[in-house]
Amino acid sequence: MIGAKQHICNSSIETEYSKSISLEHRKKFAQFFTPFSIADLMAKWILGNNDLKTVLEPAFGLGVFSRAILGRKENVQIKGFEVDETIYENAKRCFEDSENVTILLQDYMYNDWKNNYDGIICNPPYFKFHDYDNKNILKEIEANLKCRLNGFTNLYSLFLLKSIHQLKQNGRCAYIVPSEFLNSDYGKLVKTYLIKSKTLRHIIVIDFEENVFDDALTTASIILCANDKLTDSVKFSNIQSLQELSKLENSIAAYPHFTDREQTYKQAELNPDIKWKYYYQRQNSIKFKNLVPFSTYAKVVRGIATGSNEYFTFNISKATENAIEEKYLLPCICSAKDAKTTFFTKQDFEELKQNDKSVFLFNAKNSTNESIKKYIKKGEEEEIDKRFLTASRTPWYSLENRKPAPIWVSVFNRTGLRFIRNEANISNLTSFHCIYPKQTNLFSEIDIDLLFAYLITDTAKKIFEDNSRQYGNGLQKFEPNDLNKGMMLDLGLLDKQTVNKILNLYKKYKILILENKNGEEVVNKIDKILIEKYDHKNTKSGMA
Ligand SMILES: C[S@@+](CC[C@H](N)C(=O)[O-])C[C@H]1O[C@@H](n2cnc3c(N)ncnc32)[C@H](O)[C@@H]1O
Repeated sequence: MIGAKQHICNSSIETEYSKSISLEHRKKFAQFFTPFSIADLMAKWILGNNDLKTVLEPAFGLGVFSRAILGRKENVQIKGFEVDETIYENAKRCFEDSENVTILLQDYMYNDWKNNYDGIICNPPYFKFHDYDNKNILKEIEANLKCRLNGFTNLYSLFLLKSIHQLKQNGRCAYIVPSEFLNSDYGKLVKTYLIKSKTLRHIIVIDFEENVFDDALTTASIILCANDKLTDSVKFSNIQSLQELSKLENSIAAYPHFTDREQTYKQAELNPDIKWKYYYQRQNSIKFKNLVPFSTYAKVVRGIATGSNEYFTFNISKATENAIEEKYLLPCICSAKDAKTTFFTKQDFEELKQNDKSVFLFNAKNSTNESIKKYIKKGEEEEIDKRFLTASRTPWYSLENRKPAPIWVSVFNRTGLRFIRNEANISNLTSFHCIYPKQTNLFSEIDIDLLFAYLITDTAKKIFEDNSRQYGNGLQKFEPNDLNKGMMLDLGLLDKQTVNKILNLYKKYKILILENKNGEEVVNKIDKILIEKYDHKNTKSGMA
């Protein structure tokens, strides 16, 4: 083995080890190694503490972090913990010439609670709890950190919490962990602790196309913490390739200042209960040129709020029961579930009606009809007129004045935005928002079909996602203004020929959907045309 005096500043030691040791053994101990360039960047954060004298490497492996630190500063005392005897023997040989490195064959979680460090740097083991003695470890942590930690399912977050607890004044900590905890339920407690400790400074989300750690995980994040009082801000960065690491060096060197304020939040602004994707999600829109706010071409308004859906919505049997003629009923989609495909046709409406679904709203302003009067009286007896919304209307049973919108969009989404073309020309309740295309100026108005053809593409949805609100368990919500302020491709710039191409594809798509066939391929073709025109990478845009 090579002596550490030379401080091997690459991953050759790990590569050699991985070749000689079975994957089974490595998996048993979660031995996935940090690429040297990432270890080096993390080391720079630790070295930013000018008083750095003591460093801890809690999951030592072959000491990639210690090598990176020693490569830049000789004069530090490093302590490492490792539980696997095999790798421990290798590591010891590696560092046999380095007097200032002590490696202990001990479990980090059960040892060393009383010691504090100027720097802690780690790629913790990330196996699920069933591979680990979780009961005892939780007890150990709860006793030392004096907090309740129900629901933890992964050891790596416990490593991180313990390390934050062990930071000296001005101490710095750098961890590389799977990004999962940022967006999963069990991560809420870790995020709460990070915020409470006031040590969180920077989260770097690594969205490499290829995996960073063999097959171990797809996305990883670097968490940088500092136990100082130099800032109350937290920055989120994304990097997509190793080459981009260098841009983070400036940001690390500039601490406690920020090279830019993009994706920077006050600690108090961070909400541990939401997915933190919200703070760092790569803005999909930056890939495209010629973007305009959606409000340039359309206006999004929420659907009709009745104040009491139970009272105002009607199906045919309820109408018959109350002797209400259809002319006093406003056709309306009352549940998002009732619009099943991208096109809601007159026939769909008729079918819902025949199947006795609620597809009407009571709409009887200025009527002298006896049955109507009776139904209004019934509403007053039930005090529907005293509800928050109805009380503010004159008369209380009048409906909000909304024209049927040619396009609807679902408010809550699990699998991305759902746009529906309202060909039945009926109204909608609040489960959908209404989209009304606008005339942009005297001469230009984009075709509703063109707008709709755009809205059903992945590109449109992705760009809107930049403005979505993330809820727990994968739910996305869009308020009307999230969409109004969201961006879209400036379709007005398309030349006639391209518009016709898109409209022809759109016609094909519509036929397929109405025939209950799959239209995905055709939508993808529309998307491809748009990407060719608007993607930054494509210079020959061919715009009109
Ligand atoms: C993901 S690897 C990282 C190794 C190295 N630091 C790197 O980044 O390349 C985690 C290492 O921690 C060791 N390990 C696992 N559980 C541990 C524990 N409870 N205490 C200390 N080390 C542990 C594993 O054997 C493995 O070598």
